[in-house]
Amino acid sequence: MKPKIIIYKKVDKEVIDFIQQTSEVVYFEKLDENTYPTFLQELKSANGIIGSGLKIDKELLDKAPQLKIVSNISVGYDNLDLEALATRGILATNTPGVLNETVADTIIGLILAVARRIPELDHWVKDGQWQTNLEEQWFGVDVHHKTLGIIGMGGIGSVVAKRARFGFDMEILYHNRSRYKEAEDQYHAAYCSMEDLLRKSDFVCLMTPLTPETEKLMGKREFELMKRSAIFINASRGKTVDEEALIHALKTDEILGAGLDVFITEPIPSNHPLLLMENVVTTPHIGSATYETRLEMAMLAAANLVSGLKGETPVNLIGLGN
Ligand code: 8YV
Repeated sequence: MKPKIIIYKKVDKEVIDFIQQTSEVVYFEKLDENTYPTFLQELKSANGIIGSGLKIDKELLDKAPQLKIVSNISVGYDNLDLEALATRGILATNTPGVLNETVADTIIGLILAVARRIPELDHWVKDGQWQTNLEEQWFGVDVHHKTLGIIGMGGIGSVVAKRARFGFDMEILYHNRSRYKEAEDQYHAAYCSMEDLLRKSDFVCLMTPLTPETEKLMGKREFELMKRSAIFINASRGKTVDEEALIHALKTDEILGAGLDVFITEPIPSNHPLLLMENVVTTPHIGSATYETRLEMAMLAAANLVSGLKGETPVNLIGLGN
């Protein structure tokens, strides 16, 4: 009998066709109050699920007695209770690597957008405000030849360093649990303490996965250590930042601005203070959101799923030690 798979996120037909070659597929374009009851019904006999963002914890797993594998269409896996999965012998996989270049583009885009005030001036021009030569009050700050600090140097951080080094002649500082030789050798990234990175960087880019250790990694003390002329970028997870401390740092000019692709609550409420600040550029968690990369992520996740169901060790198996 073919294994039964639930796809709980909108994916390309190519992905569904690939999984259907070896499995019976139940497809939900999205989970909401209408589809969730049926999803739970189907979960009772599902052998595998594939998607992203769904909280997969003990409570949900107790409703999935036949489950063998959970395949995330994301590199991040803070939505997974790894302990609960391991105790039930359920495999978990993610999609590292294939999104690195795309997320790096997003981060460089946020750096340029905040530093050169592109969204703000785009609105200003479209509001018909551009009547005379541009006055100094609309000037931005340079990105080239400045210092970029990367907190959490991994696959994505490394290609951000490549762009910054060779595209913008920037100095690269990084702080990480362990040294990342590739970035040091290829992009002259200099390893330093978190404090030194915060004190010396013109752009501080947070790229750590969300774990109990990195929750609120950037808080009041960290923003106080940053230069008043510095810009903060977050494309990791919202909870790696103490949002109240960030709002305070922005309101009191402790830092110059911020570029944010992730938030504690997603979607962010429309009346959120961060949305009311001109020196904050926000994007709706678009790190990897290109047609090409999302398809590659979904195909990789599908391959992980199918190989796990075949009893093979999936390429991107998440280990308890990851
Ligand atoms: C995902 C991401 O698309 O890969 C990740 O960790 O954050 C994004 O690429 C997002 O998780 C989708 O929910």
